[in-house]
Amino acid sequence: MSDVIVEVTGMHKAFGSLEVLKGIDLSVRRGEVVCIIGPSGSGKSTLLRCVNLLEEPNAGKVVVNGFELTDPDVDIDKARRTIGMVFQSFNLFGHLSVLENLTVAQRKVLKRDAAEADRIARDNLKRVGLLDKVAAMPSQLSGGQQQRAAIARALSMQPAVMLFDEPTSALDPELVGDVLAVMRQLADEGMTMLVVTHEMQFAREVADRVLFMDDGTVVEEGPAANVIGQPRHERTRSFLHRVLNPVHATEA
Ligand SMILES: Nc1ncnc2c1ncn2[C@@H]1O[C@H](COP(=O)(O)OP(=O)(O)O)[C@@H](O)[C@H]1O
Ligand SMILES: [Mg+2]
Repeated sequence: MSDVIVEVTGMHKAFGSLEVLKGIDLSVRRGEVVCIIGPSGSGKSTLLRCVNLLEEPNAGKVVVNGFELTDPDVDIDKARRTIGMVFQSFNLFGHLSVLENLTVAQRKVLKRDAAEADRIARDNLKRVGLLDKVAAMPSQLSGGQQQRAAIARALSMQPAVMLFDEPTSALDPELVGDVLAVMRQLADEGMTMLVVTHEMQFAREVADRVLFMDDGTVVEEGPAANVIGQPRHERTRSFLHRVLNPVHATEA
């Protein structure tokens, strides 16, 4: 089996005349944590959505865990199962309990029996510190707990890679830490992760590699200590300055 879990080459995506991705190359190796940073509108979400084919790229190739997603003959449902996705808005099913949220796709998509789905769901709720919430409804949880439940739901499908799109940006500040702690733990356990985030401290401490995206291209890429600590490009520097000094940025 290949050591590269996600391989994107020459990806282009436009919405009408708006060119959003202008030739992206990206690879994530097994066990690697890659963080994508960049200004709003630079194409980060579109890139993640193209990686699991929620959006269809106009050009380029996407291979995930040995499946070429951009091959018209690929079994897309089977391929997608190896990809876990966590969004900014938690997207739990409001009419299902936490446990049911974690078992429904296991049963319908992976055809697991009730007992096995239940066991895997509980294991993953324990992993994110929510075992006491199995019977709760999503509306009874805080935003941070809902996001941890959404992470546990994705993990229950036992994906080869987890994609996170700004998983903490809809949370009250005091709840961000719990979600980041779960993500950090996943990273420590060796999960392969591609994370769009504005949490620079998290990126510095957890990412093996950081990509700075601007205007549909990867401007700069490398270890966090370089890209965040000593950025080479002016565009990276000015973005980091704005993110790390939000008060000054709005005054300017
Ligand atoms: N489905 C869509 N239809 C039209 N334009 C879109 C769509 N999705 C995103 N865009 C546009 O693509 C650009 C990049 O968006 P996005 O990938 O969400 O950026 P980011 O996640 O970096 O903020 C934005 O200008 C956005 O308005
Ligand atoms: Mg986005």
